[in-house]
Amino acid sequence: MPDVAYVNDRFLPLAEATVSIDDRGFLFGDGIYEVIRTYHGTPFQLDAHLARLKRSADALSLTLPRSLEEVARLVDEALGRGGWPESKIYMQITRGVAPRDHVFPAGVRPTFVMTVRELRPLDPALRTRGVAGVTMDDLRWGRCDIKSVNLLANVLARQRANEAGAFEALFVREGAVTEGSVSNVLIVRDGVIATTPEGHAILSGVTRQVVLELARKAGIAVQERRVPLDELRQADEIVLMGTTVEVLPVVTLDSRPVGTGRPGPIAARLHALFTEFAA
Ligand code: PDD
Repeated sequence: MPDVAYVNDRFLPLAEATVSIDDRGFLFGDGIYEVIRTYHGTPFQLDAHLARLKRSADALSLTLPRSLEEVARLVDEALGRGGWPESKIYMQITRGVAPRDHVFPAGVRPTFVMTVRELRPLDPALRTRGVAGVTMDDLRWGRCDIKSVNLLANVLARQRANEAGAFEALFVREGAVTEGSVSNVLIVRDGVIATTPEGHAILSGVTRQVVLELARKAGIAVQERRVPLDELRQADEIVLMGTTVEVLPVVTLDSRPVGTGRPGPIAARLHALFTEFAA
């Protein structure tokens, strides 16, 4: 089965898919993206992802070269062409191709790129055993709600986490946890969930939104508020949420056990609720 690529206005084999070295995504990181996965072949929460794509574009004064309806149709077609049982869809829109100048170029069409690859699920052992997390200074800019391709701070943090034998870096800004390098974060204390509220400091995660709603419906109290580092360290449970991690317990933080040091009951419950909802 093929990996599928779409560039600007046509499908082509992934190996042949290229963009110009003058693309502003390449030169400036002047672009936005989304990562969407399928369950039973259907894109999960496509509307929420596309709505966020539009919010990111608007925040950067970037005009999407396609309507959201057209993008949804292209996603459908790409999934059909790929034919994988489960797929990971990546889309990126940049401000287009122009000689390097910081000022927006006039009359340039944004670049639209999409790939569809086979989704390789996370190793189930990670979920049953839980993962290691390390805290790290949040060196990112002030608009982490925009899903921009400027991921250098995330890349460096995840690399450092990886070198430290950890799965995820948990960003700390002004004494409080914001989110992970590729995921949102919640903590559990005395059966109550606390998580950083939406705003400029975090990405409004699609998975986060679903998990919090499922938790509330199940009668678990959810507080969206600042989570100080002290509280993160004293949490009974820490849970990551995201398209690629789904719902994943963190069992050590900076090499010290979180709670009992084993995946906790709320993480298990949230994962069960999420799986029932998504899969
Ligand atoms: N990342 N926070 C950050 C910084 C992220 O990069 C992501 C997802 C999330 C979770 O958002 P969602 O639930 O909508 O996937 C939170 C994607 C998967 C990535 O960059 O690969």
